[in-house]
Amino acid sequence: MTIDVARDPRPVFRALRDSGRVQRMDGLSGPAVVATGRAAIDEIFKYPDVYSSAAHAGTLGNLRPLIPIEYDPPEQRKYRKLINPVFSPAAVERWKEPVTRLVHELIDGFIGAGEIDFAKQFSTPLPSQIFLTLLGLPLEDLPTFLRLKDGIVRPSLLLGLPPNHPDVKAHQRATAQEIYAYYDKVLDEREAERRDDLLSHLLDVEVDGEKLTRHELLDICFLFLTAGLDTVSASLETFMAYLAEHPERRAEVVASPDNIDNVIEELLRYESPVMLVSRFATTDTELAGCPVHKGEQVYVFIGAANLDEEELPDADQVRFDRPVNRHIAFGGGVHRCLGSHLARLELRIILREWHARIPHYRIKPGTRLSLSPGVRSLNSFPMVLGEGAE
Ligand code: HEM
Repeated sequence: MTIDVARDPRPVFRALRDSGRVQRMDGLSGPAVVATGRAAIDEIFKYPDVYSSAAHAGTLGNLRPLIPIEYDPPEQRKYRKLINPVFSPAAVERWKEPVTRLVHELIDGFIGAGEIDFAKQFSTPLPSQIFLTLLGLPLEDLPTFLRLKDGIVRPSLLLGLPPNHPDVKAHQRATAQEIYAYYDKVLDEREAERRDDLLSHLLDVEVDGEKLTRHELLDICFLFLTAGLDTVSASLETFMAYLAEHPERRAEVVASPDNIDNVIEELLRYESPVMLVSRFATTDTELAGCPVHKGEQVYVFIGAANLDEEELPDADQVRFDRPVNRHIAFGGGVHRCLGSHLARLELRIILREWHARIPHYRIKPGTRLSLSPGVRSLNSFPMVLGEGAE
């Protein structure tokens, strides 16, 4: 998994599928199983008791497992039941107006410029600004919020040190403490006085007389920082890189704003901003004829499965008119993305408003985009704007 693979993972995905849709390989910590075929991945998602997500605390400096992603059913299901209503399609509609306003405010800041850094000026700050607004926090907290997010998601890049350097882990742990303290303070405030915001709603959710405890609330909020921000940035960056490089497809987006939902689903499938997720086997078993041993790591390449021609014969074609699109860019099974409706709302508003105001743009000539592997996001995306850009 290198920067070059992340820039265009499709040839590697194809080679992996061709050599066996499930195969054994040497992973980061011993032998591992790599799944790239859609049918096999559907099976992994179907049996969370065999392919577990349960994790011990600490991967990101956190003190307890993250909720709900590091739990298996039945606990995981209980948490989803409590949190799902806050992120349902109807519930996220109320965030349409603030999201639209934030998109326009950012565009207003550079609309006259000939050149921008799309990542630094737009796709990185925007999802965090949206989240601050949903949490009822001031936009002045943006630098703190971004620093806390990067301190746990990419501490080694932030410090310029190798990932296994002791200072990197120490920085991650210290940042985690700051995150707990940051959310603790806001939760205290909302406990004292409710508002119409995400945390106030989470404080009040109740199923069968049960409410979320303070620790549980903190463990959910911690996950939002890692699951809900870079994923949206990565979607915007990969989608806009594709549309910048394919002006004829971009012209379709500009000409048919009402088709934006199909564009988003197809680019989610084709680009798969989250390349893979992982599980570990709880028992000896077999997957598509490949032996899987208890305790082994299973790498689930959702990006490769989204391009599997056994599932979708023209999977390598980008088509904005697919009548059905069963992609798994948001994962599948019990852990399927909790924030998918919010993510879709954000992407729909952003792509529609952007293309209405800025129909012409391209990647600055001579630029090599360095996408991070895993979640395919960018630190820098130099972009030339305006008709002269083409
Ligand atoms: C386009 C943007 C997004 C993509 C591509 C994406 C992708 C994913 C994927 C693939 C998973 C499954 C992880 C696994 O199976 O191990 C997941 C889970 C999750 N996502 Fe998203 N996500 C996005 C946006 C968001 C947003 C905006 C939120 C904010 C609330 C969010 C919150 C979560 C949570 C909480 C989970 C864990 C669900 C569980 O374990 O039950 N995601 N996401």
